[in-house]
Amino acid sequence: MKVTVVGAGAVGASCAEYIAMKNFASEVVLVDIKEGYAEGKAMDLMQTASLNGFDTRIVGTTGDYGKTAGSDICVITSGIPRKPGMTREELIGINAGIVKTVSASLIKHSPNTILIVVSYPMDTMTYLVHKTTGLPKSRIIGMGGALDSARFKYRLAEALGAPISDVDGLVIGGHSDTGMVPLTRLATRNSVPVTSFISEERLQQVKEDTKVGGATLTKLLGTSAWYAPGAAVSSLVQAIACDQKKMFPCSTLLEGEYNLNDICIGVPIILGKNGIEKIVKLTLTDAEKEHMQTSAEGVRKTNGLLDV
Ligand SMILES: NC(=O)c1ccc[n+]([C@@H]2O[C@H](COP(=O)([O-])OP(=O)(O)OC[C@H]3O[C@@H](n4cnc5c(N)ncnc54)[C@H](O)[C@@H]3O)[C@@H](O)[C@H]2O)c1
Repeated sequence: MKVTVVGAGAVGASCAEYIAMKNFASEVVLVDIKEGYAEGKAMDLMQTASLNGFDTRIVGTTGDYGKTAGSDICVITSGIPRKPGMTREELIGINAGIVKTVSASLIKHSPNTILIVVSYPMDTMTYLVHKTTGLPKSRIIGMGGALDSARFKYRLAEALGAPISDVDGLVIGGHSDTGMVPLTRLATRNSVPVTSFISEERLQQVKEDTKVGGATLTKLLGTSAWYAPGAAVSSLVQAIACDQKKMFPCSTLLEGEYNLNDICIGVPIILGKNGIEKIVKLTLTDAEKEHMQTSAEGVRKTNGLLDV
């Protein structure tokens, strides 16, 4: 099992570290454009192997895609953060250029690969990969909902005073503050609806805290988070690599499901060795359906900035 991670920055390196620590891949290739950066991260991570007890070989390369050849799974985290004075349109234009070039280089060397898109704005970048690569939809996965759901469970456990392993919850919709749809109605503590333990008002607070999960961390850290994003990606990679048939909310191309067409947005899917093996169709309430439609409008607006 060979995995490539493009972008050896905060999220990419954290993702490579978690994959190695879980010890299911034979090789992880880290790629970056910054001279020596991926090689350095790979060497540093390899020097944790004897301490952390993993056998995964991590190698780094500055842009040599030949080293990624034959990857079963490729993760795209490359991109640039927004700089002062840069408009959202300019940022999307630059990141779209990066994601387009990177996905083409990956597929050239690994035509059978499954791609996981992480770069900002993720739902739109996932859509771009669909429009530009011609890969089947089952092999293009956007990571957002797995992270948002982990943050939702963290906030639920906090509100319940419960261990996180006791709680379950799901976030669908677009991967943004306004786009996220935390399904509070379905959240449980050991199969018991969480409303049996906390008030509706407290649950609304959990929902709001979840939606600003990323922004809260950016404010504290001065940059966007990396541990939970890296862990979320590694869980998707493991589900595919180990054919786990696990369910995660991920951004996927919808063709009529959830009453949506020609858009990538977060819905529950089953992940296994073939990538997306099934889109799970939930029965939503009218309010949830409306929230999902508003969320989709936001994603479409961003997609409109793409030159495809
Ligand atoms: N989907 C999510 O849930 C989620 C969560 C966190 C971050 N993100 C996004 O993931 C991306 C990475 O975040 P980060 O914190 O790791 O950023 P970072 O700046 O630490 O790392 C990005 C890396 O990409 C590299 N890069 C840029 N262009 C490249 C190219 N053409 N080829 C190869 N490498 C290239 C940079 O040199 C840098 O090392 C950002 O776009 C961020 O917004 C998404």
